[in-house]
Amino acid sequence: MTSKPVHIAIFASGAGSNARRIIEYFKEDPGVEISLVVCNKPGAGVLQVASDHHIPAVLIERDRFFKGDGYLPDLEKHRVDLLVLAGFLWKVPEKIIQAYPGKIINIHPALLPAYGGKGMYGHYVHEAVLANREPLSGITIHYVDEHYDHGDTIFQATCRIEENDTVESLSQKIQQLEHAHYPEVIAGIIKKQKPR
Ligand code: GAR
Repeated sequence: MTSKPVHIAIFASGAGSNARRIIEYFKEDPGVEISLVVCNKPGAGVLQVASDHHIPAVLIERDRFFKGDGYLPDLEKHRVDLLVLAGFLWKVPEKIIQAYPGKIINIHPALLPAYGGKGMYGHYVHEAVLANREPLSGITIHYVDEHYDHGDTIFQATCRIEENDTVESLSQKIQQLEHAHYPEVIAGIIKKQKPR
């Protein structure tokens, strides 16, 4: 018996290194289709990643996302089952959270609940972690709710911070953890999911 693939939309507005890893990880998997990339930043690297892999991309605009239909028709059109945030910095509107309960996940480059919230992204996170002389940092993969960096934790992995670590070296360690774990964690979630 064959079943329908699970359709994923990747929401990303940065370089797209996580998006690329996820796309490549599922490339040969008939049970998973990355059907859409959603981006709010013109010129973002992730748009090139989508184009390299012939994945449709939608460049979203603030008013329609927050006050209009939230691009739900686009998600419906691409039969999206699971929303994967990978460097997407806008808050997800309630309209989308209600349409996809328990089906939106995010990755954050720190050990939540520490170093999360509005404005805590990318190098700002690593700067704050280093300024506080933390012995550890890491990544958190979590469900998305209506608050920034807040929903239930699915997975965490840690890395040690050395005396001589800089924002650059820490961000490399974090990126390695993200690339090593995010696709596999998504695969684990999909195993438990049924297509809509
Ligand atoms: C990742 O490190 C991700 O954890 C972070 O943005 C980066 C995107 O990198 N997300 C946040 O900070 C969310 N608060 P990428 O574009 O190379 O995948």
